[in-house]
Amino acid sequence: MTTELHVSEITGTSEQLLSLLSKLHLSAFLPQGDAGWKAGDFRDIVEMQGVHVFVAQQGEEPIGFGVIRLVCDEAELITIAVEPQRQKCGAGAAIIKKIISFLKALKAEKFFLEVREDNKAAIKLYEANGFENIGRRAGYYQTLSGSRKDALCFALIITQ
Ligand SMILES: CC(C)(COP(=O)(O)OP(=O)(O)OC[C@H]1O[C@@H](n2cnc3c(N)ncnc32)[C@H](O)[C@@H]1OP(=O)(O)O)[C@@H](O)C(=O)NCCC(=O)NCCS
Repeated sequence: MTTELHVSEITGTSEQLLSLLSKLHLSAFLPQGDAGWKAGDFRDIVEMQGVHVFVAQQGEEPIGFGVIRLVCDEAELITIAVEPQRQKCGAGAAIIKKIISFLKALKAEKFFLEVREDNKAAIKLYEANGFENIGRRAGYYQTLSGSRKDALCFALIITQ
């Protein structure tokens, strides 16, 4: 049995996929005080036009995923999550790199995302993959404790 890390696009809206995304999202976001998204939330997202889901697997086991929305030549990262026990092993970077090469192949030009100002791991991941901070949205996020945090806006110009 291989334990190689690989990332692939998964299509469809099966209950199995929606529950998996919800489970991984909850496990990744809860420790940092954010509510996870439910399977129904993911159904609404995945059914939107232009949405693509990429799942990272260690061998056969799904350990993380990223969701983007591509409209014309601009993409947005909707969310990315890696199971806490599997973080800091390169899965997040593998998901982002896979998405960038997917966007490149489709000749997308810009890739945007927002991240909470205190999310060091995600900011490191984005900066290491060429994203630049282009702005800030004051009080954009509400945490489970009720406090508000700014969002940093990042952009990547995709060079062909
Ligand atoms: C952000 C997240 C997806 C990164 O996934 P990951 O698999 O740990 O990422 P990687 O192992 O590929 O690490 C990417 C970079 O971030 C760094 N990093 C990872 N976790 C870190 C942490 N807790 N603190 C500081 N840096 C961290 C790594 O060292 C690496 O940097 P390097 O390339 O210079 O070595 C993961 O931490 C996560 O799921 N967090 C909870 C959900 C979340 O915040 N999503 C982003 C919302 S915008």
